[in-house]
Amino acid sequence: MCGIVGAIRANHNVVDFLTDGLKRLEYRGYDSSGIAVFNGEKIKRVRRVGRVQLMEDAAKEKGLFGHIGIGHTRWATHGGVTEPNAHPHISGGLIAVVHNGIIENFEEERTRLQGLGYEFESQTDTEVIAHSVKHEYSLNGGNLFEAVKSATQNFHGAYAIAVIAQDNPEEMVVARMGCPLLIALGDQETFIASDVSAVIAFTRNIAYLEDGDIAVLRASGIEKLIDKTGNPAQRKVKVSELSLASLELGPYSHFMQKEIHEQPRAIADTAEVFLDGGFEPENFGENAREVFNDIDSIKILACGTSYYSALTSKYWLESIAKVPTDVEIASEYRYRDVIANPKQLIITISQSGETLDTMEALKYAQSLGHKHSLSICNVMESALPRESELVLYTRAGAEIGVASTKAFTTQLVVLFGLAVTLGKMRGHISEEQSHAYTEELRQLPGSIQHVLNLEPQIAAWAQKFAKKDSALFLGRGIHYPIALEGALKLKEITYIHAEAYPAGELKHGPLALVDENMPVVVIAPNDNLLDKVKANMQEVGARGGELFVFTDLDSNFNEGEGVHVIRTPRHVGILSPIVHTIPVQLLSYHAALARGTDVDKPRNLAKSEIGRASCRERV
Ligand code: M6R
Repeated sequence: MCGIVGAIRANHNVVDFLTDGLKRLEYRGYDSSGIAVFNGEKIKRVRRVGRVQLMEDAAKEKGLFGHIGIGHTRWATHGGVTEPNAHPHISGGLIAVVHNGIIENFEEERTRLQGLGYEFESQTDTEVIAHSVKHEYSLNGGNLFEAVKSATQNFHGAYAIAVIAQDNPEEMVVARMGCPLLIALGDQETFIASDVSAVIAFTRNIAYLEDGDIAVLRASGIEKLIDKTGNPAQRKVKVSELSLASLELGPYSHFMQKEIHEQPRAIADTAEVFLDGGFEPENFGENAREVFNDIDSIKILACGTSYYSALTSKYWLESIAKVPTDVEIASEYRYRDVIANPKQLIITISQSGETLDTMEALKYAQSLGHKHSLSICNVMESALPRESELVLYTRAGAEIGVASTKAFTTQLVVLFGLAVTLGKMRGHISEEQSHAYTEELRQLPGSIQHVLNLEPQIAAWAQKFAKKDSALFLGRGIHYPIALEGALKLKEITYIHAEAYPAGELKHGPLALVDENMPVVVIAPNDNLLDKVKANMQEVGARGGELFVFTDLDSNFNEGEGVHVIRTPRHVGILSPIVHTIPVQLLSYHAALARGTDVDKPRNLAKSEIGRASCRERV
């Protein structure tokens, strides 16, 4: 996912901000970077393939300096990882553009612009933005705002863009459609960025743009802003409370490690809403009681790790609340014919709140007549909560590692709270049971901490995994999605091929893969399915497979030839999937360390937003 930054600073050089901001956006994943700065005479540009540091060194060497500039980390989509494809893109030496998103009709636009005499230097979709704005700018006699407004009318797709013009060095024009973009206001300095981490060291006063917004910025602030209808609009300035410490590594080696260890705190913070406010519908929004009374079923839409939290919650929603629940990958749902049910609550789950497939799936559901929606999200005011009727934020804090960890476990806390809330409303849960669930939630952070203490044992296992080419993860019932999450974590950061199966499916195919080279991770808590899981393990053992079993203290299990066991300190009952997530996160983390991969920025992957903590409104 690309990242963009920009700044107009009346009294300071912008280069330091641009390079610092881009480094703070590195977590999004990128393969090249660049900045363009007006130096008083010309727009000067530096671009490099590889780390931002290389680009920064080159910018220093060239003595880049100026009061207005834009910057970009590119994650290749159209065209290879080359310097000509890196942003900023410049048209006619006059207009410089950075862009996050995808212009879907760029081929038609390119043909149109080529017909008008524009020559293309890159294979990117972004270069059509630069030429298109330049064309409009030349036609209208140098009005950058009008040029961006006209140009964007031709684009289909998603974008967050920032544009500067060489002959208008006091102004920057920004526009947003489907990709995050914020404006940060300082004293005689205005910044823009894809997310708050890039600006927080400079100012905490943040205004989030909405889809369709176009704004003119000066050092003094927002000069003009129109919304998607073309009318003047204002965006509230909020004071971000995201701490700089949450963006720093502190004593940890990687953000993933830090974020795994932050889970007791993140879970306690997220659970607080239910511990303080009870399992009440109002936790999800003022009119949630009315909405929850009006629904007959639930459909959850999400991607990746968030999809696995959805799969886990299906078990709770159907067993505790008795609400029929269907879970679907957002990128599949959005492109298929769906039989809509207006009484079905659409839930979207997303760490970032900006995942395009999930956003488009929500819009699609709404277009089909689904009137009720709930967003479970970690990023305040991001696109999904803004477009949803109800919202409950996870309080994971900034999640910087591309591999999602604390976002997942905090999502599970909210989803569990939802199941109990609906169960109570529907009369399936007594007061006594509700108190028991409260107690389980209260004890959860402590249980997680105990599992974190198992890290040295898990790290020892990871050494063996690091030498393997593939691994199998097994679980049953509500722990099957945890096996899926374990396999995703392993492949994502170690590049070891990993698959997850419900243990009962082994004999229907995957057993053929098992031999002495195949490590098999089994999530086997002491629940009603344990005997079944044990039988499945026999099937693996009989074929020479090496078993790595995560179970509970009180389960009747023996280590033996080819069977390794790590016990979580106690059996936590209904919240067991949350506790059993921690070992698979640690296993992947340590296997990645042993293999020497880039843990926080795995190859080919990206992240859209890290979380904004809470924001106070400013009057
Ligand atoms: O921000 P989201 O939760 O919507 O992101 C969804 C997935 O892209 C994300 O969970 C991805 O699978 C993670 N990298 C997994 O660790």
